[in-house]
Amino acid sequence: MKKIVLPIMLISSVSLLSAETNKEIKQEAKSAIMKMGGALKSHMKQNMKAGGPVQAAGLCLEKASGIAKKVNAEYPKGVSVKRVSTKYRNPANKPTADEAKVLEQIQSDVDTNKTVPKMIVKEVSKNSYKVYKPIFMSKGICLSCHGDAQTRNPEAYKLIKAKYPNDKAIGYKKGDFRGAFVVTIVK
Ligand code: HEC
Repeated sequence: MKKIVLPIMLISSVSLLSAETNKEIKQEAKSAIMKMGGALKSHMKQNMKAGGPVQAAGLCLEKASGIAKKVNAEYPKGVSVKRVSTKYRNPANKPTADEAKVLEQIQSDVDTNKTVPKMIVKEVSKNSYKVYKPIFMSKGICLSCHGDAQTRNPEAYKLIKAKYPNDKAIGYKKGDFRGAFVVTIVK
């Protein structure tokens, strides 16, 4: 009797947990990412418009982390957002071991033509979650600062390389998987 009941209880308790929390966690993560993504995007857009990739790169280098800090300070308690990539430019965006695993899984899904989920929820510990939203090089304009020698803007990249001498975030093509927003939610 025990042998049959135990596995069923285990399965149902796991799926119950995700059914209850998955939707709510995803919703919270979505609105947090929208706020961060929106702030970074409008900053980038303004500067690209004003002076192209060179001005954008110059200002980006000074301000990107300040914007992220400011937006993070405005979230509800227990919520924070960052961007991570295994090919990171800013060492602050280096993934932790558990994050790198998820990124590698996504890359392998991309490589084998599997559908990549819009969001991935991982329970880190009880009442503590990380939500991943994959980022792709969806726009050609990304390549002016993350492309290869042909597609990069040389002037903009000079500024970038001076600030990040160990930059790994180049050599991308349009559509490539780039990294993820990671929302940490502690309940
Ligand atoms: C004007 C130059 C410029 C353009 C255009 C640009 N980036 Fe970046 N990107 C940077 C710089 C500089 C950093 C490092 C600073 C930081 O942390 O934001 C960075 C960091 C990132 C990161 C964080 C991970 C890391 O490597 O540190 C991601 C993800 C990213 N960029 C994706 C994109 C995508 C997607 C686009 C196109 C929509 C794009 N970038 C366009 C300059 C640029």
